[in-house]
Amino acid sequence: MNSDKQVTFQLMLAVGTAVIGSLQFGYNTGVINAPQKIIESFLNDTYIGRYTVAIPTTTLTTLWSVSVAIFSVGGIVGSFSVGLFVNRLGRRNSMLIANILAFVSAAFMGFSKLAASWEMLIIGRFIVGLYSGLSTGFVPMYVGEIAPTDLRGALGTLHQLGVVIGILVAQIFGIESILGNATLWPFLLSFTFIPALLQCMLLPFCPESPRFLLINQNEEGKAQDVLRKLRGTDDVNTDMQEMREESRQMMREKKVTILELFRSPLYRQPLLIAVMLQLSQQLSGINAVFYYSTAIFEKAGVKQPVYATIGAGVVNTAFTVVSLFVVERAGRRTLHLTGLMGMAVSAVLMTVAMALLEKLEWMSYVSIIAIFAFVAFFEIGPGPIPWFIVAELFSQGPRPSAFAVAGFSNWSANFIVGMCFQYVANLCGPYVFIIFTVLLLGFFVFTYFKVPETKGRTFDEIAAGFRQSSGRDKYGAEDFNSLGADSQF
Ligand SMILES: *[C@@H]1O[C@H](CO)[C@@H](O)[C@H](O)[C@H]1NC(C)=O
Repeated sequence: MNSDKQVTFQLMLAVGTAVIGSLQFGYNTGVINAPQKIIESFLNDTYIGRYTVAIPTTTLTTLWSVSVAIFSVGGIVGSFSVGLFVNRLGRRNSMLIANILAFVSAAFMGFSKLAASWEMLIIGRFIVGLYSGLSTGFVPMYVGEIAPTDLRGALGTLHQLGVVIGILVAQIFGIESILGNATLWPFLLSFTFIPALLQCMLLPFCPESPRFLLINQNEEGKAQDVLRKLRGTDDVNTDMQEMREESRQMMREKKVTILELFRSPLYRQPLLIAVMLQLSQQLSGINAVFYYSTAIFEKAGVKQPVYATIGAGVVNTAFTVVSLFVVERAGRRTLHLTGLMGMAVSAVLMTVAMALLEKLEWMSYVSIIAIFAFVAFFEIGPGPIPWFIVAELFSQGPRPSAFAVAGFSNWSANFIVGMCFQYVANLCGPYVFIIFTVLLLGFFVFTYFKVPETKGRTFDEIAAGFRQSSGRDKYGAEDFNSLGADSQF
């Protein structure tokens, strides 16, 4: 392999700096988990301060669930705004400017206790959600555009790794003796400003994406300079050639708008699959674990629930690394089916453990194993696969729109789980995971019957498969890719 030569200091610096954004997304996903009890008593105290009576349980559940889930509303808005930034300001400057949001949100969340204001907590969570939605668009794009072709896959996975490490760091900082206590929890939430500061200091030393310089700005000389630094060699003709070819291909295939995507029968089947797979990721219940696992473990009679939560974070990180090696080799469909079924079995185990807890004390250990297995199977299938498949189902033209729709479905389902879990858990007690089991089995059946294997197949082959299954033989094979260029809309 000659790729050792390609890993220059410039490249590692740029990738490392960008991935701080992924870390932020993970951190803010995981941070709300451990201090639930403490923030709930802050809400209670604040309520007593305002209305002189203790907070009613329903109000408490509502305020808490909103604080958790408003993050995903910010995520929806943020992920939809990615395009507004990247093509005007460039990739690097977009990342730089987004940090303003991280600073503002850190201030809102950090001072919410001092100001006795849950409104500030909620606003802060919304803003950091915005930032996270933007980051999940910026980072993979920037990393993909500065990476040499044969390292693109490997470096791309660093985004996913950054996210799970962010979750783990948040869980560790949430330990009571570190930051997860009644005095320090505002620091736990506002800690997000430190990586933001670090990224602001490093980004000026990172180059703008050469692809943006060449294709969006038409600055050939600058693009060449940047590539020379990134590759550590003067001979960057192959890279330049490849980018030009890619841009030519994009011109050939007209961009498909979101509206066209929904209207055209050609995209109906792949779009349904893309959306369902995103839903299967979020409605699998994974974020019930990342937002609420400490409360879940506590209910399951675990003595030190925070450590079990950290254990889940470690399993999550470990299996993300495992999946990095597996995903490129095994079939997407097989992995997704395995993950869904494994999660369903773990959810049943979890339910049994919670139901038998009264009679058998050691069931609390079973519940820990069940949650660990749940997380591990998630990282095998429903974690990585949905994004892979969206990229593989759609060619250049419709891909940006398909990603927007997929992102919207993903964040919306994330919101539903964050918002509803606490209510449903209060209502169903130990049987709450039955709901996820049913959903998981539903997604298993859907995947089994509807999702084709995409690995190693071209868009044309996949499209041909769809036409066979829906009997739409009147369209030529290439229409699936080129629709939009001559469409009637
Ligand atoms: C709120 O605080 C009061 C007074 O400390 C306490 O009696 C009550 O149980 C608390 N309510 C909740 C829902 O935690």
